[in-house]
Amino acid sequence: MARPKITVVGAGNVGGTVAQRLAEKNCYDVVLVDIVEGLPQGKALDLTQAGPIVGYDTRVVGTNGYQETAGSAIVVITSGVPRRPGMSRDELLAANTQIVRGVVQETVARSPDAILLVVSNPLDAMVHVARRVSGFPKARVLGMAGVLDSARFRAFIAAELGVSASEVRALVLGGHGDSMVPVLRYTTVAGRPISDRLPKERLEALIRRTRDGGAEIVNLLKAGSAFYAPSASVVEMVEAILKDQKQVLPCAALCEGEYGLLDVIVGVPVRLGRGGAEAIIEYELSADERAALATSAAAVKELCAAVDRLL
Ligand code: NAI
Ligand code: 2OP
Repeated sequence: MARPKITVVGAGNVGGTVAQRLAEKNCYDVVLVDIVEGLPQGKALDLTQAGPIVGYDTRVVGTNGYQETAGSAIVVITSGVPRRPGMSRDELLAANTQIVRGVVQETVARSPDAILLVVSNPLDAMVHVARRVSGFPKARVLGMAGVLDSARFRAFIAAELGVSASEVRALVLGGHGDSMVPVLRYTTVAGRPISDRLPKERLEALIRRTRDGGAEIVNLLKAGSAFYAPSASVVEMVEAILKDQKQVLPCAALCEGEYGLLDVIVGVPVRLGRGGAEAIIEYELSADERAALATSAAAVKELCAAVDRLL
């Protein structure tokens, strides 16, 4: 049986690492695309040569074009420019809107049934670009951020309490940015609410660190942002979709009334399966949590309005 094809656009830190993690699963074909000549080809060749050692036969193709992407089941979009010193958020928004627009046009023309999984920042606004440009149904356009933000929160809690991260559950909703919303009632350690295990001040410090999680890594790396945890998050979503796991993960998806949010793409719990974002699951939230989610969605809406002026 043919292996599902996954296209990864952007062969930089996130895209290259996504390709590696997918290759190591040994059950997909991977196409890596970038505008930089030689970069995707070189990484694809290197990944192919790792196969005999690691034990996979994954076909990994690197290209500067889109012909090889035809018939992809999933297109992961990581292409974009990072923010450089002196560059405003609006400039980043404008540059990445044009990049994501072009990538979506090229990929959907060749893979009209694909699911688009956006990673490029500013995340929620770039999912909006992908949805508008593709015209795809909402189930087939989603973004990765909540899995990453939740994993960061889990890792910080595990380190604080000296427990295995596998015992920690967490749910971070909202936009991928300062207004993200960690939902404490669904944050548990071995099934017990986190508020039983940590005093309020420590919890607040961990929430702050989670909100600043991306910036903390940028400040350490100096050139570039996080990619190991982001790529692991992408692959968890890809597998939930292609293996039809029906797993509920926090993803950026279009809300049409869920959580009281209308026509906005923001991080919410989504059931992932072969149809993509098959359903938004409405967990019970406190009034404060709902208000925080609404504030976060309002911030995303502002960015999307700016995107609409550019498209
Ligand atoms: P990177 O700079 O290492 O890689 C980006 C790649 O995109 C480069 O190789 C570049 O040549 C390529 N590219 C630029 N324009 C292109 C085009 N038109 N077509 C094809 N390729 C193109 O950046 P990195 O670290 O891989 O991050 C990628 C994006 O993902 C950034 O926007 C970053 O902010 C975002 N990101 C989002 C996360 C999330 O949680 N949603 C987490 C981590 C990164
Ligand atoms: C992160 O959170 C840069 O959005 C990226 O690490």
